[in-house]
Amino acid sequence: MTPKHFITVQDFTKAELLDLIALTRLIKEADKQGCTPRLLEGASLAMIFEEPSTRTRVSFEVAMAELGGHALYLKPGEIHLGVRESLGDTAQVLSRMCDAIFLRALKHETMEGLAAYATVPVINGLTDYNHPTQVVCDVTTMLEHRPAGKALEDLRVTFVGDATNVLSSLMFISTRLGMHFTHAAPKAYQPPDAWLALAEANCAESGGALTITDDVAAAVQDADFIYTDLWWWVGQEDEIPDRYAAFMPTYQVNRDLLAKAPAHCKVMHCLPASRGVEATDEVLDSPQSIIFDQAENRLHAEKGILTWLLYPRMPRPSEALKAYHQGRIEDFLNR
Ligand code: CP
Repeated sequence: MTPKHFITVQDFTKAELLDLIALTRLIKEADKQGCTPRLLEGASLAMIFEEPSTRTRVSFEVAMAELGGHALYLKPGEIHLGVRESLGDTAQVLSRMCDAIFLRALKHETMEGLAAYATVPVINGLTDYNHPTQVVCDVTTMLEHRPAGKALEDLRVTFVGDATNVLSSLMFISTRLGMHFTHAAPKAYQPPDAWLALAEANCAESGGALTITDDVAAAVQDADFIYTDLWWWVGQEDEIPDRYAAFMPTYQVNRDLLAKAPAHCKVMHCLPASRGVEATDEVLDSPQSIIFDQAENRLHAEKGILTWLLYPRMPRPSEALKAYHQGRIEDFLNR
């Protein structure tokens, strides 16, 4: 069976993404009643991290365990990836032993290179381009916290801050689903044209709306959700003074900015957060903050993604076939 990878939400239709989110919500309901079905009994997930992680690593490992499978944490420096072995050889070897491969990569090209050789599904756990598993969790969280009676397509999401890998995936999934997506940032930190072209094409198909602006007050005035992320990441340490000066104080999500949004507006952050930088404690810890519901939903979304990709590929031998092989092996051992 040709593997279906999970590398960008742009690879999936609106119907497919809604299907995945519906599955995530069903599995979460089962989990809340203590009966997560062991849909991936015996499955294994190879997980390669080129960068640190708390939420993504823990959520995928726990998700695999609770679904009846297991995950292997493979750290660069402790495996041969890209040093004594080519990416293609590693991809083919892991494909022979595991049911899926997860990668958090410094460069998106590494993700695409791995997927080109893998014969099992490859899951993107963040690159310098995007973070697709994060935003399945985010839309699930928005559906749970949306204003009563408001349809998904009517939701207004305003991302305040740098055009990060999370921004790209959130912009892609929101516009693909027909939502209203706004990005507020200084012009130098707005998304590149290539990302905007994809989001505009999504809107043309879905009826969604895209606004890119440096006017943060206007951007939040109708927002159902304000979302923010770090202003700098690994490798951007030299840019910290310039970035800080560009964003602070105008683009900080603080009490003054939140006061410009509707009273029902919720605050989201993919975490980790630099508290006191892109968002203040009083906002992140306020009743309007849903950051820990959002973090918890990483676990439920990973279960949805893993089940969606792997369940159709799981072998389902008959009881007779299982008994036949067990009998042959036991006869051999007892001869
Ligand atoms: N949001 C997120 O991906 O968190 P981690 O870097 O801790 O995995």
